[in-house]
Amino acid sequence: MQKTIAVLNQKGGVGKTTTTINLAAALSKNKNVLIVDLDPQGNATSGLGVDKSTQEQTIYEVLNGTIQADKTIINTKYNNLSIIPAGANLAAAEQELVSVSHRESILKAVLSSLEFDIILIDCPPSLGLLSVNALVASNYVLIPVQTEYYALEGLGLLMQTVQRVQQNLNESLKLLGVVMTMFDKRNALSTQVIDEVKKHFGQYVFDTVIPRNVRLAEAPSYGVTVFEHDKWSKGARAYKSLAKEVESHV
Ligand SMILES: Nc1ncnc2c1ncn2[C@@H]1O[C@H](COP(=O)(O)OP(=O)(O)O)[C@@H](O)[C@H]1O
Ligand SMILES: [Mg+2]
Repeated sequence: MQKTIAVLNQKGGVGKTTTTINLAAALSKNKNVLIVDLDPQGNATSGLGVDKSTQEQTIYEVLNGTIQADKTIINTKYNNLSIIPAGANLAAAEQELVSVSHRESILKAVLSSLEFDIILIDCPPSLGLLSVNALVASNYVLIPVQTEYYALEGLGLLMQTVQRVQQNLNESLKLLGVVMTMFDKRNALSTQVIDEVKKHFGQYVFDTVIPRNVRLAEAPSYGVTVFEHDKWSKGARAYKSLAKEVESHV
């Protein structure tokens, strides 16, 4: 059965896209994986080497019903890893969808027609209608949290949104887990931050912690995954380990 995971945190720059791309790449070793780029910034699209400025068949056209989802799927250069791209026009969807009936479940209807083992949705940095669509369409939500002093800020609102979706729109939505990102072991505060997040999320915090690693930051500028860029890097090993944990939960 197809399992869908929303990668969500309304804060920008916490590692959502980096996690989506590299977790998807690691999972695609054993599974047929689709990334849905749901962020108008299109970073997952360009990060996988797809030119977002020339795409005319994107998730935006899928959501407004002008094209079928399967027609927009791009096979990346990696086996078992495909993407539905996003472009800047997606920003308009947030407003345009408001007046549509079943506006929260459009993405769910679209994705249920597909046949992948795993779909990862790279969410925009907001809790608006696009992110709600992602939560309604998903079996799980995965929350990347940057290992910094303000880590917990905003997570209350995020969990309220998840709970509201569980109560009203998608009762089978589960918290897959919280993954700590950009961990810097030289910074004494980092370990404290993880302890603090564990106090709130307990067993939901993944054992795998993603280190701050320059290879992870470099890879998207070449349009490649960290595994192609430097498969022995700490970043690559961390995402491989996260994929193992995710596979054991999903
Ligand atoms: N573990 C990491 N180590 C180093 N740089 C990272 C790491 N994770 C993300 N980055 C960089 O931080 C920035 C924000 O990450 P990104 O994944 O785009 O966050 P988001 O999608 O939440 O906005 C990007 O420039 C990315 O390359
Ligand atoms: Mg992003």
